[in-house]
Amino acid sequence: MTETRPRLACLIGWPAAHSRSPLIHRYWLRTLGIEGGYVIEAVPPDDFRDFVLRLSPRGFVGANVTIPHKERALALSKPDARAQAVGAANTLWFENGELCSTNTDVEGFIGNLDASAPGWDGSEEALVLGAGGASRAVLFGLLDRGIKRVHLANRTSERAEGLAKQFGEKVHPVAWEQIGELLPRAGLLVNTTSLGMHGQPSLEVDVGKLPSGAAVADLVYVPLETPLLKAAKARRLKTADGLGMLLHQAVRGFELWFGARPQVTAELRALVEADLTAA
Ligand code: ATR
Repeated sequence: MTETRPRLACLIGWPAAHSRSPLIHRYWLRTLGIEGGYVIEAVPPDDFRDFVLRLSPRGFVGANVTIPHKERALALSKPDARAQAVGAANTLWFENGELCSTNTDVEGFIGNLDASAPGWDGSEEALVLGAGGASRAVLFGLLDRGIKRVHLANRTSERAEGLAKQFGEKVHPVAWEQIGELLPRAGLLVNTTSLGMHGQPSLEVDVGKLPSGAAVADLVYVPLETPLLKAAKARRLKTADGLGMLLHQAVRGFELWFGARPQVTAELRALVEADLTAA
C-alpha cells in the first residue's frame, strides 16, 4: 500500500521554546506545494526516550531536537559523522526503518558562508572564537572544507585544548589574549561565543587587523547585525550572519523529511526577520 497521509515532522524540546523552525518549514511546504506539516512537541526529559522510539507510530517521518534532548537523541539513533563529531544530534529521520541522526549546524554554517561570503574557503587559516557546542560544528565544517589551520581561542583554555585533541593537529588552541596577534593571518574569523548577543558583554575584536578580503562570520543573531558584523561591513569585508546559519541549517532536515531540497530565499529571510523583530 502506498503512503498517502501528509508527511508530518516536529520539533521536540522542553520547555517547547519559541522556535522559528515551524515558520521556516511551513514556508517551504507552502511555497513548494507539498502537503505536510511541522509541529512543536513539548516532551519532558523523562518521556523523551519513549517519544523518540515511537516517533513513527505517532505519525512522524522525522524531527528536529533541541535543548535539552540533543545528546540523548544522538544516543538513541544511528548518528552520522557530523553528529558524532559535534556530540549532539538536532535532526532525526528514518532510513529503511532505522532511526538516523545528523547535526545540521555543520551544513548551516558552511551553506551560509558559501551563500553570503563566496570565496571564503580560499583562505588557509581561520580564527575561531569559542569552544562550546557551536564551535564543534564550525570546526568540523572548516576542516571538512579543507581549511589547513584553525586557531581556536576560548576564555577557558582547557576547553579549546580538549577540542584540539578531538579534531587533530590542524586545530591550534591559543590563549584568548593572542587574538589580536592572530587576526592579520586569519582569512576567516568566526565568533561562536555569546559575546555581542543582546544582554551579553561585547566582543572586543579589532577587525581592522584582519587582512583585506577576509570573511567574518558571527553565529549570534540577536541582534541581527552584531557590532562585529557592522565593523566588518564598514571595512567592506565579506560577512555571514547568525540568521543565515539558522535558515541554512533547516535545509537538510526538510529535504530528508519531505523529499525536496528547499532554497533560502530573501522572502524567507524577511519573514523570519520580521518574527524576530516582533519578539
Ligand atoms: P554553544 O553550544 O552555543 O557553543 P556553550 O557551550 O555554552 O554554547 O559555549 C559558549 C561559548 O561562549 C564558550 O566558548 C564560552 O567560553 P567558556 O568556555 O570560557 O565558558 C563563551 N563565552 C561565554 N561568555 C563569555 C565571556 N564573557 N567571555 C568570553 N567567552 C565567553
